[in-house]
Amino acid sequence: MEKKIFIKTFGCQMNEYDSNRIYDTVKKIGYLKTENKENVDCYIINTCHIRDKAKEKVYHEVGRIRELYKSKNKPITIITGCVAQAENEEMLKREPYIDMVVGPQSYHKLNNLIKNFEIGKKIEETEFDVVNKFNYLDNTKNGDTNISAYLTIQEGCDKFCNFCVVPFTRGPEYSRPFDKIILEAEELVKNGAKEIILLGQNVNAYSFKIQSKEYRLSNLINTLENFSEIDRIRYTTSHPRDMTDDLIDCYSLSKKLMPFVHLPIQSGSNKMLKLMNRKHTVETYIKIYEVLKKINPEIEFSSDFIISYPGEDESDFLETLNFIKSFRFINSFSFIFSPRPGTKASTLKQVDYEISKERLIKIQEQLFLHQLNINKSFINNSVDVLVENEIIGQNKLFGRNKYMNSVIFDGSKKDVGKIIKVNIEKVNQNTLFGKTTNQRELLN
Ligand code: SAM
Ligand code: SF4
Ligand code: F3S
Repeated sequence: MEKKIFIKTFGCQMNEYDSNRIYDTVKKIGYLKTENKENVDCYIINTCHIRDKAKEKVYHEVGRIRELYKSKNKPITIITGCVAQAENEEMLKREPYIDMVVGPQSYHKLNNLIKNFEIGKKIEETEFDVVNKFNYLDNTKNGDTNISAYLTIQEGCDKFCNFCVVPFTRGPEYSRPFDKIILEAEELVKNGAKEIILLGQNVNAYSFKIQSKEYRLSNLINTLENFSEIDRIRYTTSHPRDMTDDLIDCYSLSKKLMPFVHLPIQSGSNKMLKLMNRKHTVETYIKIYEVLKKINPEIEFSSDFIISYPGEDESDFLETLNFIKSFRFINSFSFIFSPRPGTKASTLKQVDYEISKERLIKIQEQLFLHQLNINKSFINNSVDVLVENEIIGQNKLFGRNKYMNSVIFDGSKKDVGKIIKVNIEKVNQNTLFGKTTNQRELLN
């Protein structure tokens, strides 16, 4: 009999990809995706452990499920993702409502676990079994029907930045076989994808070796370039250390690789980068920027910043602030350092919280100012937008320009899936608003 499953997803794009793949696999045992979380047989919380009170958020969410189902049959309640990996059986001990805790490298086991589930039986699966996971997923059709589709090519991380949990929650770097990725891209294209976003925690460390040949991210980009149905190619998240020449060459060779580079630097101070164990300097970062700008001056950068990492004094902070002032990022994410259990930085003396808040405000003022000014420069210009969907109830369309800016505009539903010109009329920090050319003509 048909059953219903709902997944609440927190965290990065890889978690979104994973949630979609879980929906694909559980179909095989008769569990179908629903958006109505009030009436399900299985409820998964796919968690993120990167910052703050990640664990507490999960317990609150479990509390909400308990409340929602207090007068109904309890759904099988499963915690997946990075908190599951980090906390494992502790979660089962603390919260009896949870039935299973399944880490990111054990999703291929979910179907058997769900099928054989017995009330009262608690299950913990947190082995790193990434090869078997992808072998299994490779035999499951990717059912993603988004115009812009995620495709994981690499998982895990060997870099061990001192602040980061990812090497512990996702395990060592693993690159999927080249041919399997291409087969999955073909599947996505059949489902209507026009943009492929290649994903990895260190996506540009992708390296798959077979018969003495090495395939890198550049080979994937060059192969996808030849898919006539694909209009745009992107990748995220990359590390400055792995911006190799072959990848940089793609920016001159490829017409579909978007001129937008999300390349986290974390700090504008070399002292801080060293303390963080980032394995790159501010100078190497600037060099990458200069080389890429020379290839294509239209290329724009975005970054992530960690503020108040242990040891950051006022002068280190000012170096970051000045770096941001001189370097016009099109957008960026910035966070106060959050000590993560098990990481080297977790036991170090933290910067005073009030000082950290002030620093974050100053950094964000600067980042947001650039962001808004760049967005304003689009006003009265037309931008190429890949139309992703209609915004239900608003009679508007949603898409993105080449820099990933969200664009909301008046246009025709028949344009979903196409790249069209949109005249930008107003903007805010995060979004551009406008009308398609033909819509303008109709209204005038
Ligand atoms: N692999 C990417 C890289 O090396 O740049 C980053 C991936 S991580 C999922 C995304 C971002 O979260 C990082 O770039 C960093 O800015 C932030 N982050 C990671 N650990 C953090 C921590 N302990 N506190 C605050 N921010 C953190
Ligand atoms: Fe985390 Fe990225 Fe550093 Fe890896 S390279 S440890 S994912 S911040
Ligand atoms: Fe979060 Fe894990 Fe992604 S910690 S950011 S869900 S890799």
